[in-house]
Amino acid sequence: MKKIVVLISGGGTNLQSIIDSVKNSELKNVEIAKVISSNKNAYGLKRAVNANIPTSIIQNESELKSVLRNINPDLIVLAGYVKILSAELVAEFENKIINIHPALLPKYGGKGMYGLNVHKKVLENGEKQTGATVHFVDKGTDTGEIILQKTLDVKKNDTPETLQKRVLENIEHKIYTHAIKKVLG
Ligand code: GRF
Repeated sequence: MKKIVVLISGGGTNLQSIIDSVKNSELKNVEIAKVISSNKNAYGLKRAVNANIPTSIIQNESELKSVLRNINPDLIVLAGYVKILSAELVAEFENKIINIHPALLPKYGGKGMYGLNVHKKVLENGEKQTGATVHFVDKGTDTGEIILQKTLDVKKNDTPETLQKRVLENIEHKIYTHAIKKVLG
């Protein structure tokens, strides 16, 4: 059984897609050992509790590090986790931390590129396509090796909100499971 830990800060719809994939055996031999949230009000915590997954609310990195060391997971999955991990923590868990980003990296990544900002910029620049990327986390922001990417056509009447919703539902919720499978082998 491979152990994963999912780190969240918000709604947790990507977490839900992973929970569902474990339940329906799309992800086989995978156990979500814990869901860790940086935010005590994150709705994703409810999703974890509903699925009988242990949860922790952790705001400080030394505590995070010791919890991760104790669990010794095969993979740490960032799913809407808003805190930046230190280079030291990233080095300790090298090639074991992955993140999902709602754009086709290396475009529209880096500082300030989160939430609706990403989709606003994609529309401003008149992109015909956008999508999502799953990548390893390195010490930069959104710069790690790309694991999986899937594109989506931008529609003429898209707004940042409609684009965000389609990228989430049609792309992110599908590719995260595929990427986890690929990494865990
Ligand atoms: C997603 O768009 C993800 O790509 C980004 O943060 C958002 C999290 O959404 N990193 P949710 O909490 O999984 O619903």
